[in-house]
Amino acid sequence: MGVLDGRVAIVTGAGRGIGREIARYMASEGARVVVNDLGANPDGTGTGRIADDVVAEIRATGGEAVANYDTVATLAGGRAIFETAMDAFGECNVLVNNAGILRDRTLVNMTEAEWDAVMNVHLKGHFCCTQPFAQYIRATSRYDCSIVNFSSTSGLFGNFGQTNYGAAKAGIAGFTRVLALELMKYQCGVNTIAPAAATRLTIDLMRASGRDVNPDDPLQGPQQLGPVITWLVSEAARGITNQIFFVSGTLLGIMQQPKVVSQFVTDHLWTLDELDRAIPRLVAAKKKHDTQVDRHAIARTL
Ligand SMILES: NC(=O)c1ccc[n+]([C@@H]2O[C@H](COP(=O)([O-])OP(=O)(O)OC[C@H]3O[C@@H](n4cnc5c(N)ncnc54)[C@H](O)[C@@H]3O)[C@@H](O)[C@H]2O)c1
Repeated sequence: MGVLDGRVAIVTGAGRGIGREIARYMASEGARVVVNDLGANPDGTGTGRIADDVVAEIRATGGEAVANYDTVATLAGGRAIFETAMDAFGECNVLVNNAGILRDRTLVNMTEAEWDAVMNVHLKGHFCCTQPFAQYIRATSRYDCSIVNFSSTSGLFGNFGQTNYGAAKAGIAGFTRVLALELMKYQCGVNTIAPAAATRLTIDLMRASGRDVNPDDPLQGPQQLGPVITWLVSEAARGITNQIFFVSGTLLGIMQQPKVVSQFVTDHLWTLDELDRAIPRLVAAKKKHDTQVDRHAIARTL
């Protein structure tokens, strides 16, 4: 018995890295899995059939999986990915929007093509893969579905040289907040992940920042995402929605969502003199709040 027995899951970008670990773990817990991957280079160029290798690995251990090689970056691709699940398994309960690329460049040097490529795979890719699934949830009135979206600290905290990627990843967190509301009626959990793991997208950056990275160490590589995402789409996670989870190596955390942390009110148009007093006090209140959050967020063992 597995926690995902009877479930059908689509995992995008599952030919390698984090997606592969999620697909394999879900299959080991009984899910029938669509392993989607375009087989792209880190910058999104090129294609290949690497999804076949993951399908073979899953089948070799007794699991069920089918491959799909479509791009997440077009609605036609998103629909074809969804239809792969329907054709192979006749239903679908789980969508993991994981596919990703990078085209890092400072804003002043960024080309329109670099901006568009990242937006298309990440932010538009979430729309393209999610819309067919959400339409299906509504048409069939399913109450057993889950969606996991992939953001990044790059968008949530900010990271130099990634305005395209950071904007797309922050957009994905916003997309998740709205989608969670829209699918609440169907009790569909919609959550965001901000991962950090040694994969081909990050190893060079980690090494450049002086870290001693070993991608084969399961506590540094993408393996931790397998059990966490599997739990989040299992029955145990029922009722958990609209959250952002941080999964970095051995750390598992939850992030705060945007909230007003301090405010003043007036019965007239603000004067510049009043703003001289109000805005520094708001900024100070926010700094105090951040310090309290940081203190509270010291990692503890269970
Ligand atoms: N690794 C990290 O530390 C980290 C940090 C923050 C966010 N993320 C996010 O996690 C996700 C997975 O990243 P990863 O590190 O495993 O990367 P990865 O490069 O190892 O895997 C990504 C996969 O997505 C596939 N892909 C790319 N474009 C596609 C498209 N248009 N259609 C279908 N598949 C496509 C690639 O072929 C690749 O196999 C991405 O969304 C990434 O932005 C990763």
